[in-house]
Amino acid sequence: MVKTTCEQPQDLEEVLKDYLDDEEVKKMCDYKAHGGISVYAHCLNVADLSDRIDKALGSKCDRKTLLLGALLHDFYLYDWHDARVFVNVFKMHGYTHPETACQNAIRCFDVDEGVQEVIRCHMWPLTLFHFPSSREAMIVCMADKICALKETFTR
Ligand SMILES: [Fe+2]
Ligand SMILES: [Fe+2]
Repeated sequence: MVKTTCEQPQDLEEVLKDYLDDEEVKKMCDYKAHGGISVYAHCLNVADLSDRIDKALGSKCDRKTLLLGALLHDFYLYDWHDARVFVNVFKMHGYTHPETACQNAIRCFDVDEGVQEVIRCHMWPLTLFHFPSSREAMIVCMADKICALKETFTR
């Protein structure tokens, strides 16, 4: 079930409680992701699905790395529909936003390298040189694509 609001799933709260109500993180409520869903709701969907995939596969991910990486994977904090974002093909949102999100995550929360890897690699294969090499990064990369598809068709 795709969530379309900024409601926080109960089972993610214990791991993400220090982040879900943070003012910077909440700013993601102000930006649209896919299909009219906020970036915040999209990130919660990705965290929730990543958690389910991890449990279903028994992949024994580090839960904090998985869920925090998923929550912050699109922490870029701007409206990507804004035409000024598309300066040229190499500066397009799809290529650049993982690094922007990662820098914001470092600035706000000093996230460790495991979380940085999840954020930087979530757009692979578009970002060719940022292959997701950890289990956590692979799962979030996959969950992001599934959620984006579902959300696009849930209008
Ligand atoms: Fe993204
Ligand atoms: Fe995403």
